[in-house]
Amino acid sequence: MLVTKYVFQPHGDYRGQLIALEEFKDIPFRIKRVYYMYDTADGFVRGKHAHKNLEQILVCIHGSCKIKLDNGYEQKVVPLEKPYEGLYVPNNMWREMYDFSEGAVLLVFASELYDASDYIRDYDEFLEFVKNDKKE
Ligand code: TYD
Repeated sequence: MLVTKYVFQPHGDYRGQLIALEEFKDIPFRIKRVYYMYDTADGFVRGKHAHKNLEQILVCIHGSCKIKLDNGYEQKVVPLEKPYEGLYVPNNMWREMYDFSEGAVLLVFASELYDASDYIRDYDEFLEFVKNDKKE
């Protein structure tokens, strides 16, 4: 399973670091929505869903966390520990976010507006969905 991680270019100087992200240049899609998670309660797993039509880039801009990706056939755990790293999450990918460090902030760039009907929240339904998708 191919995992795409981006390394963004920091514009650093003696004052510190700055990262700028532009759609189609640094982020491979039109950015329609940005959201972030913070104050994640200890031991909790977020996500646990897939999307039928949504691309995302996840950046842990403060602290660290782990992302489990699962395409229905293979799983991979990707640690996000640097504010200059972005993880690409395509359609039809089950994701779980966990092991958030104290004060961690996970920023997400999304290719679509929020649409509750685009979520697959049941794992068995997800497996069924990706199997049928492959047959087409
Ligand atoms: P939820 O999907 O449960 O978070 P996750 O699965 O990533 O852990 O989202 C939490 C709440 O926030 C839920 O009530 C839906 C709402 N929400 C929005 O209103 N807009 C958004 O863009 C997102 C991602 C969530």
